[in-house]
Amino acid sequence: MTEEALNSFLSSYDFQISSFKKLEGYGSQNFLINCENGERYVLKINDYDSNQYQDLLAENNILFSLKANVDYQLPIPILNKEGHHLIKKEDSIIRCLKYLDGEFWGDNHLSQSSLTSLGISMASLDLALIKTAPNAIHHRNIVWDLQNVMANKPYLSMVENVEDARLIQYYFDQINEFILTQFSNLRKSLIHNDFNPWNVLIGDEKVSGLIDFGDMVYGPIICELAVSLSYVLTTSKNILEDARLVISSYHQVLPLEKKEIKLLYHLIAGRIITSLCNSAKSKKDYPDNPYIGISEKPYRHLLHQWIKINPLAFKKMALDACGLSAEEEKYSADKVEQHRVNNFSSALSLSYAEPIHMASAAFQYMYDYSGNSFLDAYNNIPLVGHTHPAISEAISKQAKKLNTNTRYHYPLLGEYAEKLLSYFPKHLNKIFLVNSGSAASDLAIRLATNFTGQKDIFVIEEGYHGNTQIGIDVSPYKFGNKGGKGAHSFIHQLPLAKEYNTNKDLASFLLEAENKINNFKEQHLKPAAIIAEMISGCGGQVPHLKGYLPKLFNLIKAEGGLCIADEVQTGFGRLGHWFWGFEMQEVTPDIVILGKPIGNGHPLGAVVCTSEVAEAFDNGMEFFSSFGGNPVSCAAGLAVLNVLEKEELQVNAESVGAYWKNKLIELQKDHHCIGDVRGEGLFLGIEIMDGLKEDKLLAKTIKNEMRRKFILTSTDGKYDNVIKVKPPLCFSKENVDHFIQSFHEVLEDLDS
Ligand SMILES: Cc1ncc(COP(=O)(O)O)c(C=O)c1O
Repeated sequence: MTEEALNSFLSSYDFQISSFKKLEGYGSQNFLINCENGERYVLKINDYDSNQYQDLLAENNILFSLKANVDYQLPIPILNKEGHHLIKKEDSIIRCLKYLDGEFWGDNHLSQSSLTSLGISMASLDLALIKTAPNAIHHRNIVWDLQNVMANKPYLSMVENVEDARLIQYYFDQINEFILTQFSNLRKSLIHNDFNPWNVLIGDEKVSGLIDFGDMVYGPIICELAVSLSYVLTTSKNILEDARLVISSYHQVLPLEKKEIKLLYHLIAGRIITSLCNSAKSKKDYPDNPYIGISEKPYRHLLHQWIKINPLAFKKMALDACGLSAEEEKYSADKVEQHRVNNFSSALSLSYAEPIHMASAAFQYMYDYSGNSFLDAYNNIPLVGHTHPAISEAISKQAKKLNTNTRYHYPLLGEYAEKLLSYFPKHLNKIFLVNSGSAASDLAIRLATNFTGQKDIFVIEEGYHGNTQIGIDVSPYKFGNKGGKGAHSFIHQLPLAKEYNTNKDLASFLLEAENKINNFKEQHLKPAAIIAEMISGCGGQVPHLKGYLPKLFNLIKAEGGLCIADEVQTGFGRLGHWFWGFEMQEVTPDIVILGKPIGNGHPLGAVVCTSEVAEAFDNGMEFFSSFGGNPVSCAAGLAVLNVLEKEELQVNAESVGAYWKNKLIELQKDHHCIGDVRGEGLFLGIEIMDGLKEDKLLAKTIKNEMRRKFILTSTDGKYDNVIKVKPPLCFSKENVDHFIQSFHEVLEDLDS
């Protein structure tokens, strides 16, 4: 704006100016006017737009009507020389507001009294606004209105940090699914909609003024609280405590309804993501304006704290803050447990003697019905994170369009097959889609027996490959342990070549294995296959000694047998440096079986093999799996691969895994019970020992103590003394630090 124009605007008012200066802000140009008599004003200049003119007219009227109803200062408009509060001049709209003295909340730490005052001040304003006609504001349509939260979704692609982006995407998805439909049931009124640190003035630990009514909308009253809490909590050391204070003080003045309170957690998330999306957009639009990103850093911080909060815990706290109970929604743990007892075999086991009742989950966090949040260091099936929105969206969209079977053509089948096969070496170019890892191992064994015409299978001690009859037959972990009936005559066990605490080296393991194979040969038998996990999971996260598997595979190949790599646990980038475990083991399988993480929890499995093996299987008997390769499963599988690539999760597995392993090795110095730390990427094992003896009891105690610290792990291995960690691949270094600190504390407590 020219100086001449500014002077002409200033001359519309009847004040003697001593000085003026430009203030920060966007939307309008603002100037602080100092008058000779000591009065101060803010001159606000907007570009002319007839809707905006109507809005500002309404805003002025609302300010006048509020004046008498709140006990803090408001930016009341002053009259110009001609007796108007709002002037259209040239192409601008001009208004002059009373300047409010005081300190911004943003320059102060909010004490408990200020938080209480904030709640009361907000509620008293809203109480007055409820009685105010919404006028032109009724039609205001802005992205800062939480009713329009989804309008910000297009800006998500501008968020550069992938960790932020996936959380933002998650909350868009949750709000879209669970919150939007509820807006129509809520009380609505005019709300200020921007009680933020740079709009609220604080004096003597009380709200002393409120400025900027520019984001005022007609919307659900509860959004007022949500918006303000989103700011309060960015700097909060104790989120639930601070939120409780603001909510309870608001409720004292303007009682909230249960249905409003229940939405608060997600509405606050809505404001966080609105702000972050707009920061990303503004950074692109105005790369040089530092004011634009002012709330980005605190909101990013809050976003990553917010995902750790169990929504049920927040809801319970908020209801409690208002003296309301969540009684009628109380979860009946007894009933759920009884249903399980009544309807299932007790062979269906549970983690932990005191089982966890899970309510929901997001990425590496799981939330139970008691309001606890768990850090999930254990579940490898949700590879890219629990309830990842890209996966649920892909599944839900396809389920609404077509779900059928492979007896028809549909593009997704081929698209997914092409994409998945592109991760394999060229000789592995045919795929069978099934619906579990067990179905995959079962089929793999059938493929091998069919191809070779032989029945005998070599397996590795402690190996596990599935729950079908064939799966159990080839799983020493099952047939050789409790309840198992031992090995069939056609199953031949080879040793698990483990380095730690065995007093054996590669040569002696090989000798043992060769003797077994030679013994087999001497009976004039030929093998159908060898099946092996690339790192033995149930065996206790044991990577085979380097060079062991290649030798075994060669020996079996030399006898005409096929080599089956079980990648159900190890595949899809979990090992960090290697996408597949067979790459790490430097073996060339003929058949690979896939499951668990392939669909991020959606039941999906696959067998990948050579074309020779696949062609030989076409012997007249049709292969058909009702669910294998259905379009919904293909959509899920495809989405998993896309997310893996987009979020570079294999790279994350490599760096976070290495960080974790190093931290555990450091911890070994302080805690002698950590006998061995092994594994690759985000597939690690911690072997718990009492001197040279495997300590099953201590491992179990540690697992249970970690759970008391809300971290999920498990134990496994021949002696059940290995703590397994294999979390979703979005696990962060901060999560590792938290794990290590807790692990250290648990061991220290057990030592003392
Ligand atoms: C290595 C391995 N293979 C196969 C399976 C069987 O997979 P699913 O439980 O999906 O049938 C499992 C399951 O734990 C496994 O760990």
